[in-house]
Amino acid sequence: MNSRDLLQLTPVLPVVAIADLAWAVPSAKALKRGGIGVIEVVLRTPVSLQAIQAIKEQVPEVIVGAGTVLNEEQLVAAIDAGAEFIVTPGLTPELLRAGLNASVPMIPGVATASEVMVGMQAGVSTFKFFPAATSGGVAAVQALSAPFADVSFCPTGGVSPSNMQSYLDIESVVCVGGSWITPHALMRTRDWGAITELASAAVTLAGDIDLAVKS
Ligand code: 3PG
Repeated sequence: MNSRDLLQLTPVLPVVAIADLAWAVPSAKALKRGGIGVIEVVLRTPVSLQAIQAIKEQVPEVIVGAGTVLNEEQLVAAIDAGAEFIVTPGLTPELLRAGLNASVPMIPGVATASEVMVGMQAGVSTFKFFPAATSGGVAAVQALSAPFADVSFCPTGGVSPSNMQSYLDIESVVCVGGSWITPHALMRTRDWGAITELASAAVTLAGDIDLAVKS
């Protein structure tokens, strides 16, 4: 599956930081119960690789990827742990090369036209637009979509229920990403029911948008 097809499976890609390995499986199940079956576990905690492995093994109905991948070493470690896709906050020549040779899709982060062009030269057409809000938000994604007709974006960073629809309305936006569905406070208190509700609310909100039109 290529990265665009993968992101088309969900209108919202949760950015999940797992500080305690015991959160991994229940949080993935909670998201799935809320209707979200693709999740990004960020490599920002000591247990993130083990969390990816646990989700891959114990929640096979969820597609789990690794986020905040900064270099080739982390990319290899994430794939070894079972990551089914890779998300990076930015792009470097090293990561692009590694992504091209990887066995799973990679969604590199971009924030400028030049970065999109560097990615396109390497054959990438689906990008994380990051950090979305501070890089110009909806207007920036719209502006970037004009010259790059075949490019798709997953805006992430400052996306919330109050602005996700404006992003999803853009033809080139395949999904949005964000951490609001798995806030640290709810993870820490293991309030999986509340996480399911946030997931379900996000899916319902996105339901008004005809994602099929974008296929
Ligand atoms: C990311 O890693 O993609 C961002 O930190 C998520 O941004 P958000 O916390 O504003 O949703």
